[in-house]
Amino acid sequence: MKIKVLFFLTVFAFATTSIFAQKWSDLAIDSLIAKMSIEEKVGQMTQIDLGVVAEGGICNLKQPQRIDITKLQEAIGKYKIGSILNVGCGSGTISGPNWNVIHQTIIKENKKTARLPIPILYGIDAIHGANYTKGATLFPQQIAQAATWNPALVEQANAVSAYETRASGIPWNFSPVLDLGRQPLWSRFFETYGEDVCLASAMARAAIKGLQGDEVSSKYKVAACMKHFLGYSFSLSGKDRTPVWLSEREMRAYFLPTFQEAIATGAKTVMINSGDINGTPVHANYDILTTLLRDELKFKGVAVTDWEDIYKLEQLHRVAATKKEAVRMAIMAGVDMSMVPNDFQFCDLLVELIKEGTVPMSRIDLSVKRILSLKRDLGLFEHPIYAVKDYPAFGSVDHSNLSYQAAAECLTLLKNKNAVLPLVAQKDKILVCGPAAHSLNLLNGAWTHTWQGVDTTTNTPGKKTILQALQEQYGNLLTYAQGASLDALINTEELLSKANSADKIVVCLGELPSTEVPGNIKSLDLPEAQIQLVKQLASLGKPIILVCCFNRPRIIAPIIPLVDAMVYAYLPGDEGGRAIADCITGRINPSGKLPFTYPAASNDIVHYDRKRTEDLDIDFSMNAYQPSFDFGFGLSYTQFIYAPISISTDTLKKGSKILVNCKVKNTGARRGAEVLQLYYNDLVASITPSVKKLTAFKKVMLEPNEEKEIQLELTSESFSFINKNNQRVTEPGLIELMIDQQKKLIYVE
Ligand code: BGC
Repeated sequence: MKIKVLFFLTVFAFATTSIFAQKWSDLAIDSLIAKMSIEEKVGQMTQIDLGVVAEGGICNLKQPQRIDITKLQEAIGKYKIGSILNVGCGSGTISGPNWNVIHQTIIKENKKTARLPIPILYGIDAIHGANYTKGATLFPQQIAQAATWNPALVEQANAVSAYETRASGIPWNFSPVLDLGRQPLWSRFFETYGEDVCLASAMARAAIKGLQGDEVSSKYKVAACMKHFLGYSFSLSGKDRTPVWLSEREMRAYFLPTFQEAIATGAKTVMINSGDINGTPVHANYDILTTLLRDELKFKGVAVTDWEDIYKLEQLHRVAATKKEAVRMAIMAGVDMSMVPNDFQFCDLLVELIKEGTVPMSRIDLSVKRILSLKRDLGLFEHPIYAVKDYPAFGSVDHSNLSYQAAAECLTLLKNKNAVLPLVAQKDKILVCGPAAHSLNLLNGAWTHTWQGVDTTTNTPGKKTILQALQEQYGNLLTYAQGASLDALINTEELLSKANSADKIVVCLGELPSTEVPGNIKSLDLPEAQIQLVKQLASLGKPIILVCCFNRPRIIAPIIPLVDAMVYAYLPGDEGGRAIADCITGRINPSGKLPFTYPAASNDIVHYDRKRTEDLDIDFSMNAYQPSFDFGFGLSYTQFIYAPISISTDTLKKGSKILVNCKVKNTGARRGAEVLQLYYNDLVASITPSVKKLTAFKKVMLEPNEEKEIQLELTSESFSFINKNNQRVTEPGLIELMIDQQKKLIYVE
């Protein structure tokens, strides 16, 4: 009798929540959890790869991709799985309608087979647009988005990514990467927002807002996933998933703030760092996953492992003697969901651990509640999927225009001797050459249609390479010779003879699309063949325009003096070819600024926010900061001048704010955008202060002769740092504010 009443109340709770509130209440979720078996709870904590339930198998999906019903029935019926992901290894892109069929099949089978009405949560890496869906809009990669210094634009780009990901039926995006890019060798450097805490935090906020919006249950929004908590990007060797040695002070000063910002913005999920810090794998680290993430940062969402990382506690890290011990360690450290993803051992082992009492049910219920709440917040109980026709703007011209704008705004003009750029289209004869000149893959990088992004057969038809976009403007005045692949010279005789007949040379260098372990390199130096290509061209004495499409700042110091202009393009995405051509011919005025310090030598990695080392009274020039280009640097086709800074007070009291005003004027003949970068220098502090540190910025567009006054608001928090007790503090003292060459001293109490 009692059971019947409870059942009635539970059904009533579901009904009232869906009819009146359109959402499941916490009470309804608790009631649902109370009805779940151990196996059902563990199933919710399990994420498998599409290959486990599709025809063909893992990394070998049949084309077109199709669900294998028998395998799906086992996954849902026996293992009660709660989540699926897919990666682009071996599967390539999937068309929107085919995605729909796949999801409809999963939803139908889940309804039929699962005892409880819990939707399955599908997740994917939509890293720079819905990159695993055919015809989706592909944006510049994160490092390029950071180079726009335009958070509003980054928010819009992420909103389009969310729209097109949801159009593919997928409500969970494993993006953005919030690891700070302070190790330029790292194969995933291009996935970061660069080396600076202030810039990357602003981008983190923009990305989360764009992906999740104000209401994540909207059919145009997805849950974001902050990656990869914590310190993943900073391995000592620079190789992916190799040991990180990080003091707590450094971790809090550099690697935590982007995550803090994203949590404050409402990020729904987090993915855990695959590697280890100071010898402890993060997947087994209670201090990071529970004490820091939950107790201190108050993160309420879902923590998912990275690929196979629970098993790796046994197989790779060797901190667990068996897989079962690995599962126990990870769950007790704070993992909610295991990206298993290729088998069901995790389910069997966790069920055993719970039945033995080694993992308490209270721990499991906590994770299951987080997972069900996420599904509830995404509106999946009511709407597991929407119709393809609900997304008429998928892959639209408006979306590609936005991608073009992002590509245009990321382009960073690093050199322009004698104003060689912009070229006047149709005037000079130009030679276009280099490995990146005629490749869409080299503009997009990894996570493009496939995991490593090297497959040329899956590229979006109609998108233009740099060569094709320049050809449209130059017609017969343009000749092309590749001249070099990524690592070998090709037919230099043909190249030099064509170069001889040209007036100007556009040479486009690049890097093989790659990420994670396949992207590891042994040196930051650009392969010698590409250096030789530029050297040979330079021997002809013609103006050379260098375009760089790199995953990370590959060393080009030997050729910088040989070229007249240099456009750093990062990985600008599917519209990058058009944007680069338009930048070269002046249809757009470049406004990108470097989001990292560009090193001049492989072993001379010094960040702009370095400690003071150079102005000692003996010759310590070897200690000097001598990058090829400074963080925040980028030229324009127009010129800007700054008026002196004015401030609302010269003494900043605790809890109050200071307004910093600065006028900037466009003194050139062209419309252009400038980024006001406000740095500060803490003159004396208990922890050796940085020579300068970015604390606020704003991008402004100025017509010729136009002057604008920009106001930036700071508080004493803006000058805080992590002290020797690992606490964030602002110490009283003098602070020097700097915008361009303008400086002002203030006293912070
Ligand atoms: C990567 C993650 C990614 C996951 C799923 C892992 O190998 O490290 O960034 O989200 O695969 O594709």
